[in-house]
Amino acid sequence: MQNPPAIHFNGIEQVFKGAGSAPIHALTALDFTVGRHEFVSVLGPSGCGKSTLLRLLAGLIQPSAGQVEVFGNPVTTPRDDVGIVFQKPTLLPWLSVIDNVTFPIKHKQGRVGEAHRKRGYEMLDLVRLGDFADKQIDELSGGMQQRVGIARALLLDPDILLMDEPFSALDALSRDEMSLELLRIWHERPKTVLFITHSIPEALLLSDRIIVLSERPGTVRDDIIVPFDRPRSLETMADPRFNEMANSIRRRLFSHPVNAAAGGMA
Ligand SMILES: Nc1ncnc2c1ncn2[C@@H]1O[C@H](COP(=O)(O)OP(=O)(O)OP(=O)(O)O)[C@@H](O)[C@H]1O
Ligand SMILES: [Mg+2]
Repeated sequence: MQNPPAIHFNGIEQVFKGAGSAPIHALTALDFTVGRHEFVSVLGPSGCGKSTLLRLLAGLIQPSAGQVEVFGNPVTTPRDDVGIVFQKPTLLPWLSVIDNVTFPIKHKQGRVGEAHRKRGYEMLDLVRLGDFADKQIDELSGGMQQRVGIARALLLDPDILLMDEPFSALDALSRDEMSLELLRIWHERPKTVLFITHSIPEALLLSDRIIVLSERPGTVRDDIIVPFDRPRSLETMADPRFNEMANSIRRRLFSHPVNAAAGGMA
């Protein structure tokens, strides 16, 4: 039998029933798979359910119908083999850099053993923050703080890494730099990555595939294979097909009048 995919969104419906307000249908008939060690980006208009699908996959919420599967098993609770990097790094400013990286273990087990501490330092080396382990969080730049968030997500060596617009708070230069850093890390430590972004070039530079969602309720509108050779670099963006693909995705995203009015895609 063929191995199950790393991730399978299987007929997902997500309806939020607000207290006293009309229910919000966030996702409908959502169906796609991600293979092991594939890098897949999700693009879609604001409010179409991107963060919701990440929270479903992380086991933080349960779908109204359908099933989210990780390696063939339904996701019912948060799992150690799924790491998450949020839009804001959500670090604890009163802890040092290394203590932030090892915090998930402290939270789970009450203490951090030598092996996890060692692994924390290794992850800081991987994100090039080895010299900053004992610094306080507010001594770091925004990009460096985001790297701490990545190191923390990698601490338990998850098979799956979920990233929700992780670089959107950074300036354009740091953003390009972090994209290349992420490619390097992914190359050194292959992971299955589900990456949410509003940036079409970022999705094209990083991904094997791009899932384009419709406006709410979100469903898969396009599933696009990104053909550029790896390893990729900023040179990849000079490939004439890069601009062609970016334009065609942009046209698809903005072909609906609601999206055209909403804007917001880079
Ligand atoms: N806990 C919740 N309770 C009620 N409604 C919610 C909840 N979480 C999300 N929603 C609604 O579900 C829809 C999808 O939200 P979600 O955060 O997934 O969108 P998104 O695609 O990530 O948007 P953005 O690009 O702006 O981050 C929105 O209309 C939102 O208001
Ligand atoms: Mg979101």
